[in-house]
Amino acid sequence: MKNIKIKNLLLRPLTMSDSNDVYAYSKSKNVGPRAGWKPHESIEETMEIMKAIFIDKENIWGIEKDKKIIGSIGLIDDPHRQNDQARMLGYALSEDYWGQGIMTAAARAVLAYGFDTLALSLISVVHYPSNRGSQRVIEKCGFLYEGTIRQAEKIYTGEIRDVKAYSMTRAEFMSKK
Ligand SMILES: CC(C)(COP(=O)(O)OP(=O)(O)OC[C@H]1O[C@@H](n2cnc3c(N)ncnc32)[C@H](O)[C@@H]1OP(=O)(O)O)[C@@H](O)C(=O)NCCC(=O)NCCS
Repeated sequence: MKNIKIKNLLLRPLTMSDSNDVYAYSKSKNVGPRAGWKPHESIEETMEIMKAIFIDKENIWGIEKDKKIIGSIGLIDDPHRQNDQARMLGYALSEDYWGQGIMTAAARAVLAYGFDTLALSLISVVHYPSNRGSQRVIEKCGFLYEGTIRQAEKIYTGEIRDVKAYSMTRAEFMSKK
């Protein structure tokens, strides 16, 4: 998996030495719950989660700015699609950096990587209806809205949430180039 450079950002694999940076934004009540995950309660919890979902995983990048990890982005298996050439986009960013266009730039770069380098046929993404920031990232990237999957996910609190589902095919990506 390659590093991806975008202006003043570097997308690169995470290592355990990034744990403090990841914990710093993952402990916030404003970050994880918007994506359905519980705020981290300790650096030890961050380290366990990093081992389980970030370290040595293909196509999961840390977002580095000024030598610090400020978020993550990745392409993971899509639980809604039986297609080896489809992946689902996911991301989270430290709230200190919201509203500067960072995730839109990172998502566009990862879309290009997914279609050009991984030769994927489709990339999907979902957000909770209340998550307007994520919705705007998705819209600005040019995804097609597929519909709302009602009562789709049980989050860490036990609450069942709808998700708004979007996708982009390879042909749609190529036509936007
Ligand atoms: C969603 C998230 C990744 C956005 O990152 P970001 O770098 O701030 O995104 P950008 O700056 O590229 O774009 C954000 C857009 O949302 C808009 N926005 C942000 N909050 C908003 C709100 N409450 N209502 C309406 N629009 C909102 C911004 O104005 C901007 O749109 P614009 O360029 O048209 O003005 C970030 O807020 C985050 O990490 N949230 C917590 C985790 C999360 O939600 N992950 C995604 C799960 S689906």
